[in-house]
Amino acid sequence: MFTKDVCADRVVLVTGGGSGIGFAISRQMGLHGAKVVIMGRRAAVLQAAVASLTAEGIAATFVTGDVRQPAHAQAAIEKAVSTYGKLNVLVNCAAGNFLSTAEQLSTNAFRTVIEIDTVGTFNMCSAAFPQLKINGGVIINISAVLQKYATWYQVHASAAKAAIDSITRSLALEWGVHNIRVIGIAPGPISDTPGLNKLAGDAIEDMVKEIVPLKRVGTKDEIALIAVFALTPGGGYITGHTIIADGGQHIYRDPPMPHEMVTEWSRQRELKSKL
Ligand code: COA
Ligand code: NAP
Repeated sequence: MFTKDVCADRVVLVTGGGSGIGFAISRQMGLHGAKVVIMGRRAAVLQAAVASLTAEGIAATFVTGDVRQPAHAQAAIEKAVSTYGKLNVLVNCAAGNFLSTAEQLSTNAFRTVIEIDTVGTFNMCSAAFPQLKINGGVIINISAVLQKYATWYQVHASAAKAAIDSITRSLALEWGVHNIRVIGIAPGPISDTPGLNKLAGDAIEDMVKEIVPLKRVGTKDEIALIAVFALTPGGGYITGHTIIADGGQHIYRDPPMPHEMVTEWSRQRELKSKL
């Protein structure tokens, strides 16, 4: 897709980089020359991910931490700088989610998702800012399309991702002067990810046929390559915008009538209007 060294001067910190979409972003940026630091709470998952990245020749290390804790966010930035000398890309991919009706969702459950997704994203951006403003940089916030209209059993995650999209715009506005670009990526259903397995499970095939115009799930690399694109000269004038990659899910509407009926119905109306 891109020249092999397109990310060569980048040191990238990816929260949630040990699994799923975050791992794919770490891998694609690494394959394109970036040095990668991944962050999450489970050391064993991160260790295995780093082993897999280094086996492909990628310079990678990990730091354990919880994005909800400002001190952990700070420590992750310090790890990147002490290992690779700088930080110029932050990818906020860490998130928590589960299905729950609004009626059954406790205040603490709602707060937990807001704290991981939204407060966590803000914590990481704040901690990274002093490094990013030295020579400019890029923040990529992984969003979703849940919040574009409304999604059943997702009041918590929809609110959290809507706030992330807002953070993307606000920081792009305030930090553009430092040559810091802030970009969102909003995936639809992405195959072989913990998120999709948790939220859709076996229902996914029927769901995709129903509500995704492209009639298929996306791949992790389709998301990861958008993140790489954001670092290329072609992405250099994009900021404050969240790029949707969902196979068209967010524009899906049920047709008002079966498509076999449309022509006949329309002809009948035409005839009536001429009477
Ligand atoms: N349905 C309803 N409420 C739930 C829930 C579920 N499936 N899972 C957790 N909760 C509630 C808990 O009951 C608790 O609320 P309470 O104190 O009122 O009982 C609250 O959420 C916090 O749960 P806890 O397990 O302490 O939070 P945690 O910080 O350990 O874990 C989660 C956070 C719940 C989001 C957990 O799923 C997680 O760590 N997820 C990360 C991976 C992930 O979700 N990946 C998919 C990304 S799309
Ligand atoms: P995932 O692998 O479970 O991603 C979540 C990652 O975040 C895990 O590596 C997890 O590691 C880490 N994490 C969770 N809470 C954390 C915390 N408090 N501090 C630090 N790290 C934390 O799931 P995924 O499906 O690939 O999702 C990745 C991102 O894409 C999420 O932002 C999600 O909302 C978004 N997304 C996914 C889909 C999809 O179809 N999968 C669709 C739309 C949007 P630990 O548990 O070890 O901390």
